[in-house]
This record gives sequence, structure tokens and C-alpha cells, in this order.
Amino acid sequence: MSQNHKILFIFIDLELTDDLLVAQAFSFLSAGVETVTNTVSFTLHELARNQQLQDQVRGEIFASLERHGGLSYQGVAELKLLEMCLKETMRKYPATKHLLRVCTAEYDLDENLRLETGDCLVIPLSGIHNDPANFDNPEEYRPERFREAPAAGTYIPFGDGPRICLGINNFEQF
Ligand code: HEM
Repeated sequence: MSQNHKILFIFIDLELTDDLLVAQAFSFLSAGVETVTNTVSFTLHELARNQQLQDQVRGEIFASLERHGGLSYQGVAELKLLEMCLKETMRKYPATKHLLRVCTAEYDLDENLRLETGDCLVIPLSGIHNDPANFDNPEEYRPERFREAPAAGTYIPFGDGPRICLGINNFEQF
């Protein structure tokens, strides 16, 4: 059965009970509220500690408001320094510290390490983001790092693969 058929099969077989609907609403709320508030709070915290950076971000916002005659979608999309700050916050203080997976097929990571079906995996997202091999001087809050795209696999604040965060599109629209 192809992957698409499997997904279709699951949908067709699913009974939309009240419990299921409540669970979906709950998981959207719990997944979407604290992640965003944490990210905004830590960004404000870092900006409060760095007056120069705060002035640059404020300058960018006021220039955009002036260019567009007020708040607009396009104007927000142009706030590149603010976007880099949010990315740096999600690197240093990721909303989710680790990702969880259950292995569904045997896989050799290297010649010494084989994953067996059913193995539980804890992927240390926070450790990856704060590893000096991936980001030099990781304790330093430096949004400029994100002028360049990070190396593949070193930055996964929204997770990855088929269970990647459903909210990622809200962020990437900007
Ligand atoms: C800064 C904002 C956010 C961050 C950093 C974030 C991060 C994450 C991470 C790391 C995961 C686990 C992904 C994985 O296991 O590969 C996840 C899952 C999820 N997120 Fe977010 N999230 C954010 C905002 C949101 C918002 C706004 C929503 C809803 C509108 C949302 C809905 C979800 C849902 C439903 C899942 C579960 C997906 C699944 O298991 O298939 N998230 N998020």
C-alpha cells in the first residue's frame, strides 16, 4: 500500500467522536500557545538585555510602519532583523527540548549502531542547537547567525519529517 493510500485509509476509518474533536482542539491549543508565548517572551528578554539590538529592531519596525503607512502584511514580512531574532530565540531556547520517535523499521545509523523496530528515540533538539560544533559560542544571543541558512540538520525548532509542527507555516509566511 502506498503512503498516500495508507493516509486515506486512516481518514476513512476514523470516527469523528466528540472526544476526538475535543482532543484535537486541546492539542492545537497546548501545542500552539506556550510555544509562541515562550518564543516571544525569550525574545523580549534578550532584547531587554541588549539595548543596541533593541534599538535596531525598533528602528526596523518604525521604518516599515512609515513605508507602508501603518501595519500591513507586507510590512511585517519585511522585518528581517526581527525574523532573525525569533530564529535565534528558537535556537537558544527551543520551545520543545527534544523530539520523540518510535523506530518503524530496522536502520543502521553506522556500523556500530543499529536501530531495531520499536526502539524509542529521544532526539536532543536543545543539545543540537546549543552544540558549539553547530553554532559557535552558542550561549551568545546573536541573530546575525541567521543571515545565512544553518547547515542541514543543525536547526530543527519545529521538528522534522511527517510529524513536523503544523504551525510552521504561520511562521514561514513572514
Ligand atoms: C514558535 C512556535 C512553535 C514552535 C517552536 C513549535 C514547535 C513544535 C515542535 C518541535 C513540534 C514537534 C514536531 C516533531 O516531533 O517533529 C510541534 C508539533 C506540533 N505543533 Fe508546533 N510549534 C509552534 C507553534 C505551533 C502553533 C501556532 C500550532 C497550531 C496552530 C502548532 C501545532 C502543532 C501540532 C498540532 C503539533 C503536532 C504535530 C504532529 O504530531 O503531527 N504549533 N511543534
